Amino acid sequence: MGKIAVYPGSFDPVTNGHCDLVQRGLRLFDKVIVAIASNGTKNPLFTIEERLEMLKETFKEMPGVEMDCFDGLLVNYVVKRGADAILRGLRAVSDFEYEFQMALMNRKLNKKVQTVFLMTGLRWIFISSSIIKEAAQFGGDTSGMVPDIVCEKLKEKFGASRP
Ligand code: PNS
Repeated sequence: MGKIAVYPGSFDPVTNGHCDLVQRGLRLFDKVIVAIASNGTKNPLFTIEERLEMLKETFKEMPGVEMDCFDGLLVNYVVKRGADAILRGLRAVSDFEYEFQMALMNRKLNKKVQTVFLMTGLRWIFISSSIIKEAAQFGGDTSGMVPDIVCEKLKEKFGASRP
């Protein structure tokens, strides 16, 4: 069996930064499971079902990618899926403290589960789901920063872009 990575997150919504990370993750792993944590973001904009639908559309032509959601501890999910590692992206210095804390806690919870970090592509270094939602909320055009399906769904949520 090939190497499997779990790429966990809130994906509220998926951005081009996430897509870039999945693509590069596939150079290291045979399969990347993009897993939505149902207890991730506190007040999500999109339901789990909506997020799953957007992920499915985004990765529909990438056979090595699987979508799922999980409850509870990430390390337990990783073991349940028989995965070899957790995959996470690192943008800039600001991500480091949170990611370091989470990786160490996950290792404390299960020392067999490794976390692999990939640097986010330079093009996407300023993009996060939160900043995308903020821009979209006030009528900003998010095309080119998120998959087309996400752009459409954001417009549905917030109404068409204002001039
Ligand atoms: O996209 P996010 O919000 O940065 O992702 C955070 C996520 C979902 C990876 C993290 O909150 C998580 O793993 N949640 C599941 C509960 C868990 O195992 N937490 C880490 C150890 S306490």
